[in-house]
Amino acid sequence: MTTDQERRGLDRGRFLWEFVRSPLRTASAVPSSAWLAERMVVGIPERGEPVVVELGAGTGAFTSAVQRRLAGRGRHVVVELNDRFAAGIARAYPSVEVICEDAVRLPELLAERGVGPADAIVSGLPWVAYAGEPPLIESVPRALASSGVYTQFAYNWTRWAPPARHLLDGLRTEFEEVMTSRTVWRNLPPAVVYLARRPRRV
Ligand SMILES: C[S@@+](CC[C@H](N)C(=O)[O-])C[C@H]1O[C@@H](n2cnc3c(N)ncnc32)[C@H](O)[C@@H]1O
Repeated sequence: MTTDQERRGLDRGRFLWEFVRSPLRTASAVPSSAWLAERMVVGIPERGEPVVVELGAGTGAFTSAVQRRLAGRGRHVVVELNDRFAAGIARAYPSVEVICEDAVRLPELLAERGVGPADAIVSGLPWVAYAGEPPLIESVPRALASSGVYTQFAYNWTRWAPPARHLLDGLRTEFEEVMTSRTVWRNLPPAVVYLARRPRRV
């Protein structure tokens, strides 16, 4: 049987391997920490049967936090482009619906499967995923309920770089309210979480 520590070691190895294969799309050499994951799932309602959409699950750092928060309620859909990551999530979390596609088609992917609107969208996607056409940040509100919450993280050391600022500007255009968390220092590298709500176009 695999212990939690062994599983984390395996996840780190797989993550590093995928980073070497595709550094821009994987965007990090290590998975996010449990501390960052806990911040990322605060927008998921604690009651009812919420629909949660997770973008870019990797080895599941946020997936396990979403599953814990849902505790068997609602629906949890993952959109992950990398087929090895997607297969790993499907194996490890049988109750999660995994879509192995580019998140840029988010509203269509969800509509095709009768999912939505989402109560929470938890994004682990890198900048490059937001740089396509149509801009993904414009599609997110179309997949979200009017009371829905969107969370996304940014590494502290790169958050002032032009692509990250552009993304934050996009969030502020699309949502009436965007809040920035305190720095989560227990993550490699340290990061903040943007929490956006009240989408302007639903
Ligand atoms: C920085 S990793 C985050 C993984 C995980 N959420 C974590 O925090 O450890 C980015 C993830 O997004 C996925 N990804 C990148 N571009 C994507 C896209 N256009 N659509 C869906 N997934 C994408 C990558 O394959 C990778 O799993």
